[in-house]
Amino acid sequence: MRTVHTFRDARALGSGCVGLVPTMGYLHEGHISLVDAARRECDTVIVSLFVNPLQFAPTEDLASYPRDLERDAEMVEEAGADVLFAPQLEEMYPDKPLTTVAVDLVTEGMEGEIRPGHFDGVATVVAKLFAGIAPDRAYFGRKDAQQLVTVRRMTTDLSFPIVIVGEPIVRESDGLALSSRNTYLDPAERAAARSINRGINAVAEAIIAGERSGTELERIAATPVNDEPGIDLDYATLADQDTASALLDLDRPAFLAVAARVGRTRLLDNVHIDRIDGGWVPDAGIRLDGPSILYREA
Ligand code: PAJ
Repeated sequence: MRTVHTFRDARALGSGCVGLVPTMGYLHEGHISLVDAARRECDTVIVSLFVNPLQFAPTEDLASYPRDLERDAEMVEEAGADVLFAPQLEEMYPDKPLTTVAVDLVTEGMEGEIRPGHFDGVATVVAKLFAGIAPDRAYFGRKDAQQLVTVRRMTTDLSFPIVIVGEPIVRESDGLALSSRNTYLDPAERAAARSINRGINAVAEAIIAGERSGTELERIAATPVNDEPGIDLDYATLADQDTASALLDLDRPAFLAVAARVGRTRLLDNVHIDRIDGGWVPDAGIRLDGPSILYREA
């Protein structure tokens, strides 16, 4: 595996079908599942690692976001990627960008409402990665469901000839969705955070039992979080998979997204709901057998 720091070098190393996995580093099994998918489907696998200041508000955790390039490079190499692209700030933003990408409508609710400007930062950096590396396929986690909707729409609107692949959420064995930010949680906060997954599982069961009302599914997702001390719900929203707009009823492919705050940490989770053979099928992703690398390192 080669570690490179410029777009020119990253692009030069791509041959055949090139798969890109954009990340902000401090990798875990969720990121690695994206590398695995890219490895199965592409000739060259490029992982990018850049903590993108443009998507953090001044009040957010840019300075404290976990960083460890050496650790990440080992994980990426072990996962079988060909290239780790780790640009410095000057390579990504030689100057304050006067050209940015804003995706309307799909960024209005949920995370877009709570984190104004966040998705402009995401769309801009992903567009730069797409333009600078020119991959054939790019891999994103369904964990960040509204981000996936935004990236898909940006790709279509800007005519990037890139296939966007969405991969299932990877979870701790107790159900907590993996996130680099889980490293901020102390044991009591981790315990409180599990209530999110209890709500997600209850939603999946309710859908299987025939529940279709958006309000009712949102109530089912919210209840365990609201009942748990030490965690504050931001929202539980049933949303359209294509537009991320809120749904009154489950009448098209959807996801039920939950966001909550534990101490200084914001956590996101969701269950993806597809129509398969005429029935509604919830998919909350996969659980690891044992503790993730984040748990082991804590
Ligand atoms: P980051 O949070 O590092 O996540 C990189 C990718 O890993 C995203 O596509 C995210 O959805 C996916 N991911 C994170 N946790 C996951 C989990 N538990 N299971 C499956 N996939 C998971 O998302 C970003 O970085 C940034 O916004 C980025 C797209 C790189 C732009 O800066």
